Amino acid sequence: MSFVKVGIVGGGVMGSGIAQVVAQTGVPTVLVETIVETDVVRDHLEGRLAKAVDAGRLEPEVRDTVVANLSYTADLDDLKGCEFVLEAIVEERGAKEVLFSTLDESLGPEAIFASNTSTLSITTLASATGEMRRKRFLGCHFFNPPVVMALVEVVPTVETDPDVVEAVRDFMQRMGKTPIVVRDSRGFIVNRLLGPYMVDAVRLLERGLGTIEDLDTAMREGAGVPMGPFQLIDYIGIDVVHAMASNLYEEYRTEAFAPPELLSRMLTLGYVGRKGGFGFYDYSAKPPVPNDELVRGFKRSGEAAPGSGS
Ligand code: 3HC
Repeated sequence: MSFVKVGIVGGGVMGSGIAQVVAQTGVPTVLVETIVETDVVRDHLEGRLAKAVDAGRLEPEVRDTVVANLSYTADLDDLKGCEFVLEAIVEERGAKEVLFSTLDESLGPEAIFASNTSTLSITTLASATGEMRRKRFLGCHFFNPPVVMALVEVVPTVETDPDVVEAVRDFMQRMGKTPIVVRDSRGFIVNRLLGPYMVDAVRLLERGLGTIEDLDTAMREGAGVPMGPFQLIDYIGIDVVHAMASNLYEEYRTEAFAPPELLSRMLTLGYVGRKGGFGFYDYSAKPPVPNDELVRGFKRSGEAAPGSGS
């Protein structure tokens, strides 16, 4: 099963990566970004393609297929005619509900809607649309970086038509992904497990169990993960990880998900990780330098030092 035309809403790391994956299968793909200028989104994406070709990670012909099939716009009306529309905007319930309700009115009844949310309820988002659309609504949760990570969590609600689930699962397989069908439970499988892991790593750092590098090395060399927890948090984005923890804490009310104070303070100061150049590591240096001074600084600052109460 393939789609004649696909729409992706949100030109950030996830949205643009997913758009590349769809477009490289030869499907005309519309990437909508309403906040950042579309030229900036295009430049980022084409810059990534060029780097991947130079590094031998992408065949030039595949790059050409992406460029030929991908169009960029700031206008949601350009999604008309899309059979499958996937949302990858900011992880905020209100923003996603407004988007889906707008799209429900403007797109034909056959269009399938999907959300890339990881920590909001698909049932809640689907309820921003009408009764008929809810049968054609599901979650499709990709992982960062979407061009590399194979898994997609496909998340039907109790109302999703089984044929829609099958069609989407099949489409994911055609794109070279590994879809698994997961029950609609916030965090699904991966973030339910990964969230507490990242939160715990920050708590261990607050408590002085080791330096940033110690903890990263421990997990890379001792548990075989490709990135240590702080490399991973910086890679995903401190803003995204904080939103993930907050959303899951709101749902499950367990300490395991509660955003640690250090993470909240870093976010307040605008430290978002690799994409902003600064987080648990300083990316202005090559290779990036761990930012242990920052943790010590928070401890010296006198106000309830992170981890000092335990
Ligand atoms: N087209 C365009 N870019 C490509 C490409 C292609 N065909 N193939 C690779 N690239 C890019 C990659 O995206 C990556 O770019 P980036 O560094 O800017 O992100 C770069 O080329 C290197 O890719 P490689 O696979 O060759 O490089 P590595 O072997 O160094 O692996 C990694 C990098 C895949 C990020 C690896 O370190 C890894 O697997 N890390 C863990 C990632 C992870 O756990 N992701 C899940 C996070 S949880 C999540 O996403 C949930 C969400 O809800 C928050």
